[in-house]
Amino acid sequence: MKATYRSAATLDRMSATGPRQVVAEAEETASELGIVDESARRRTFAIISHPDAGKTTLTEKFLLYAGRVAEAGAVKARGNRRRVVSDWMAMERQRGISITSTVLQFTYRGSVINLLDTPGHRDFSEDTYRVLSAVDSAVMVLDVAKGIEPQTLKLFEVCRARELPILTFLNKYDRPGRDPLELIDEIEKLIGLRPTPVTWPVGIPGDFRGVIDRRSGELIRFARTARGAGISVEESVDPQRASQEEGSAWQTATEECALLDEVGSDLDLKSFLAGESSPLFVGSALTNFGVRHLLDAVVDLAPAPSARQDASREHRALDAAFSGFVFKVQANMDPAHRDHVAFVRVCSGRFERGMTVTHGSTGRPFGTKHAAAVFGSERETIDIAYPGDVVGLVNASDLHIGDSLYADNPVTFPPIPSCAPELFATVRSLNVSRYKQFRRGLAQMAQEGVIQVLRDPNGDPVPVLAAVGQMQFEVFSFRLAQEFGAQVELSATPHRIARRTDAQTAARLSAWSSVRVLAREDGMLLALFESPYWLQRLEADHPDWTLEPITVSVAPA
Ligand code: G4P
Repeated sequence: MKATYRSAATLDRMSATGPRQVVAEAEETASELGIVDESARRRTFAIISHPDAGKTTLTEKFLLYAGRVAEAGAVKARGNRRRVVSDWMAMERQRGISITSTVLQFTYRGSVINLLDTPGHRDFSEDTYRVLSAVDSAVMVLDVAKGIEPQTLKLFEVCRARELPILTFLNKYDRPGRDPLELIDEIEKLIGLRPTPVTWPVGIPGDFRGVIDRRSGELIRFARTARGAGISVEESVDPQRASQEEGSAWQTATEECALLDEVGSDLDLKSFLAGESSPLFVGSALTNFGVRHLLDAVVDLAPAPSARQDASREHRALDAAFSGFVFKVQANMDPAHRDHVAFVRVCSGRFERGMTVTHGSTGRPFGTKHAAAVFGSERETIDIAYPGDVVGLVNASDLHIGDSLYADNPVTFPPIPSCAPELFATVRSLNVSRYKQFRRGLAQMAQEGVIQVLRDPNGDPVPVLAAVGQMQFEVFSFRLAQEFGAQVELSATPHRIARRTDAQTAARLSAWSSVRVLAREDGMLLALFESPYWLQRLEADHPDWTLEPITVSVAPA
């Protein structure tokens, strides 16, 4: 049977070549390949980085190299560069940060690339964790002047802890920065990931001559294009000529490569796939230097989807009946339609729009007529999808993060990681006449995981919001006002630490006025402490009480 796979619509509008033409080009006829072969040509990954390290620029350049946009500036127009294609929320535009995640699909060298966007800011780590549960690998982008920044260390650690294969890109080498040897040392020390440079810079940051491809020993030189708008022309130069033409820069680079050889920093596929080592590439997303090498590595080195483990650690074969799980829920992406989209990562089988699947948590049949590739506020119908692909189910308000969907044999995938909240605030509606909207908004934000909503099991009706970062509260208030017309007042509580507890310990804790016990939406009881002092005292005096850290679940995919 011949099937048509259509990819994200927004890109069509971004292309300088005009929408119609791009739609025609993007409509690919899926071959007669079976599910296993279709899976094998997919690469599903996320780019993780500290804000400003260059994630957006790199994404844009990937699209340029994949031929999805004719000119890089078409994506992120000059003068309005902050309004990137993936930033659709008004608040994102105002603040210049990427809060929400979207999914891009494009083809490159015959592979279907699914690139899942992640918010760079630590305050939205939880959203990033969810996205990481849906990818098979990640590209870590570091600014060569800054290295691993403390605010984002946690994100990289989670990636590492999930044993996710990570490619590293040392970006912004076109301008002054730190010694790359020092940086690879830092990566290894801070996140325990052993960088294995595949390319190595010739010249210092700010005087970037090109890279040595350590596999061939050749110098690759790049020609600049204005603001990197077009693909850079590359020239391969043999070592002898490179030595004559680049002099001491070449000599330093070859000496450093000899050092890397000595310490065994060679590309090692096995440890890369185990999430222990990271092939490293050097370049400059802005000028396109090294972008092609990195994109090639996504195709050549990053893993294709494989049989996924379910909650009972059984593997569901790629060609088993359709299955997938919801890793993200987002409402009101399209303000005109007030919709509700559940993003499903396909794990096995072939998804066909219109098929009826089972919704794991309710056991009820679930129709998939409204399946779309979603990109910001734009969407286009998806008819067919394979393992590794992401399907947006529109108006799927019954679906929650972590829910499994399947055809035939039931499957439950492991729960999506959640973070230990560190900030708490009570929330009140400022306008009694909008109370209904306030409640709806609260439920919506909790379902999406924008914040966690805690309630007092003993009856105090004022809900408490729990978050990892302050900006989550800001997004909450902003969206409640924008989307539900409900103005709210948040008052921070003095609590700083949360521990998971049980009903028995909760009853005992009621005698302690400085500890508050609240219930999360999923029923988990949380004991909130104002300082580590009381927690430590209780732990010392009552070792039998249940006070467990809420750790991020880091089960490998
Ligand atoms: P993010 O998504 O990770 O937050 O970063 P983004 O790509 O938006 O890049 C942040 C800034 O860094 C941008 O500059 C971008 O142009 C610049 N940048 C990205 N890659 C490189 C690179 O390889 N070399 C250099 N020199 N700069 C790079 P901006 O000043 O915020 O915007 P604009 O003035 O360039 O529009």
